[in-house]
Formats: sequence, C-alpha cells, structure tokens
Amino acid sequence: MAQKNIQRPVIFGVAADSGCGKSTFLRRVNAIFGTTTSKAHTPTGDLITTICLDDFHTLDRTGRADTGISALDVRANNFALMADQLKALKQGRAIKKPIYNHDTGAIDPVETIHPNHIIIVEGLHPMLDKDVIESLDFTFYIDVSDPVKKAWKIERDMVERGHKKEDIIASIESRKPDFEKFVEPQKANADVIISIEPTKLDVAPGEETKYLNTRLIQRENQHGIRPVYMFEEEGSTVDWDPCAGPGAMACPYPGTRVRYYNEMSGEKHAHVLEVDGVFGETEELFFIEERLSNTNTKYFGELTKQMLKNKAAPGSGDGSGLIQALVALKMRESYERFTGRTIQIPKWGLFLDDY
Ligand code: ADP
Ligand code: G6P
Repeated sequence: MAQKNIQRPVIFGVAADSGCGKSTFLRRVNAIFGTTTSKAHTPTGDLITTICLDDFHTLDRTGRADTGISALDVRANNFALMADQLKALKQGRAIKKPIYNHDTGAIDPVETIHPNHIIIVEGLHPMLDKDVIESLDFTFYIDVSDPVKKAWKIERDMVERGHKKEDIIASIESRKPDFEKFVEPQKANADVIISIEPTKLDVAPGEETKYLNTRLIQRENQHGIRPVYMFEEEGSTVDWDPCAGPGAMACPYPGTRVRYYNEMSGEKHAHVLEVDGVFGETEELFFIEERLSNTNTKYFGELTKQMLKNKAAPGSGDGSGLIQALVALKMRESYERFTGRTIQIPKWGLFLDDY
C-alpha cells in the first residue's frame, strides 16, 4: 500500500482461536467501514490494514514439530518484535514485518507495512504481552465455547478438507492445554467479549450446537466505549421474546430470545446483550434494532442493512452475526471519537437497492 501521512493510527486488537469466526467478523468490520476484503490476512481497503499475528511466529512448522512447541505457546512467538513494530506504527513509522507462510509452513522474507488510519491486529495473542497491549486502543476477545468450536471445526474440516471426525477431535483436544494457558487468559484484558455458546432454548437433544446463544459482554473500560443496551433504561434488566405478540417477528424453531442485564465479567462490571436462537427474515431485524440504544448507527436501519449486506456469511441468521455487526459499529464510533474524523456512508435512501 502506498505511504500515507498518518500521524496516529487507531489500533484494534482481536483475539481468538483459529476457526472461531475472525475472518467472518473482519468482513463485517470492513463492510461497516465502507471497505471490502475477501481475505483477512492481507492489507485491505483504504482505511484499514489487517495484521495477522501468525506472522510473528519464531518457530516454523518444522521447528514446532521438532520441539513439540505449539503455535499457541509464547515460546513460538516474538512478542518483543510485535510490541516494537506496533509502537512504530502507532508513531506513524513504517515497519518491516516478517510473514508466516501458511502454505509452506516457513517464515518468508519481510514485507513493508505502512501506517494506516486503522490497524487491526488479529490472532492468537494480541492481548497477552503488556508492551503489545499498550499500543491497542480497543480490545476484543471472541470466545467460542468448546462444543460450538468442535461442531464448527468438524463441519468445516470434514466437508472442506476431507478429515476424519476422530482426527479432528484429537487435534482439538491436543491444542486445549496451550489454548487455556496462553489464549484464554486474554479475556481479562478485553474491552468487549463476544461469547458464543450452545443455545439455552428448548431444543431436541443433540441439537444444542445447531443453534447459538451469543452474548455481547461490554466490560468497564478506559477507552470511553459506551455499551449497547435495550430499551430506555441503561442498567435495567430485560428479557424479551421478539416473536411473541401482535405484529411480532416471525421466528422459526426454536425461536429467538433477547436479554439485557448487568453482571461481573472477571473483576469488571459488564453490560450484557444476549441473543439466543434464530431469526426468520433478516429484513425483520428492524424489530430488534429499534429496541436497542447506543448502537452507533448513522441512521435507523443501518444495523439491519449491514446484516442484509452479509446475508450469506456465517452467523447472519442468528445473534452471532448481529452482535459482530454491533461490535463493528462500536469500532467505527471509536475510530471517529479517537480521531475526530467522520466516516461517510451511503444514505438511507439507498437502503433497498444496494445490498
Ligand atoms: P477464523 O478466521 O477464525 O479461522 P472463520 O471466520 O473463517 O474463522 O470461520 C471458520 C468457520 O467457522 C466457518 O467456515 C464456519 O463454518 C464457522 N463459523 C464461523 N462463524 C460462524 C457463525 N457465526 N455461525 C456458524 N458458523 C460459523
Ligand atoms: C494454528 C494456529 C495458527 C498457526 C497455525 C500453524 O492454526 O491457530 O496461529 O499459525 O496453527 O499451523 P500450521 O498448520 O501452519 O503449521
């Protein structure tokens, strides 16, 4: 990308295990910022550059196989370089970043990354090292519970890669200790956690991971981010069935449930928006959108429009996609607040024609 005169990029950290929907989430972010991308690992659009932290692996595939050290282990990653390079970008300086080649498993020659307006740092450990954290303006953790992670991975690896179910389960189990040691603790450093669990609605036995319970956990933070909440009362508790009553949303089995409440998340106070079950028609999300406050949309209907734009993406028919879109809107609002700039978006009148 050509060099720009950017004094102070805004840097977002997105932590998650692989296969937990980071690419899907980043596609929604790019759509909300008005840029497009098909691949999370390449610099994208005019405003946003995405850096994948896999590029800071110090051990290549052979090195990991020889030592038995996994990619999740801190010893397989160069945190000092990560911290230095993010600090340089933040000060408006270009960096020469290594590249981890996922096809060959080797560490390729460096590439130059210029500062951009927004830098998204995504991967296993953006919020583990305190010097790295210092450069981050807003931090997210995507927390997919084990049963859901397993179901997604089995589905993807069996269908797309022809792997055997037992092998997939064995590979998930073998990663678990390092995941718990090196990745999960980052939740404590997240401003926002997107938590995805099996549904808590009444479903047939064995169907629990087919439907999702997604929570937007908005933790007390230093970054001035204001939580999304329901109805008029920030701090009240709401338990709502959007499919009940006259003029309600049409919800297929097993229905939809939306809740808003406060709870402790680790040591921090948190505002939680919880969406369980599935939506019927994406167009009807207006019904939920109109009951949410502090969404940071630029006009009423923008959230629904964003969901329609990405209708084919995983999660578009349930709360996981809706909550990812809400987080992307918060990122846009934070960018505008941190920089004093305004992002232009298409007007309301284009709504029905341009998705
Ligand atoms: P990552 O970039 O973290 O590896 P992806 O966004 O590529 O993750 O998602 C990996 C797979 O997980 C997808 O192909 C899909 O099968 C599944 N998945 C991700 N997000 C969702 C979701 N919200 N609902 C259902 N499945 C999902
Ligand atoms: C996992 C990790 C990635 C890492 C990869 C390396 O998927 O989540 O961060 O880069 O392993 O594995 P590989 O198959 O390339 O050796």
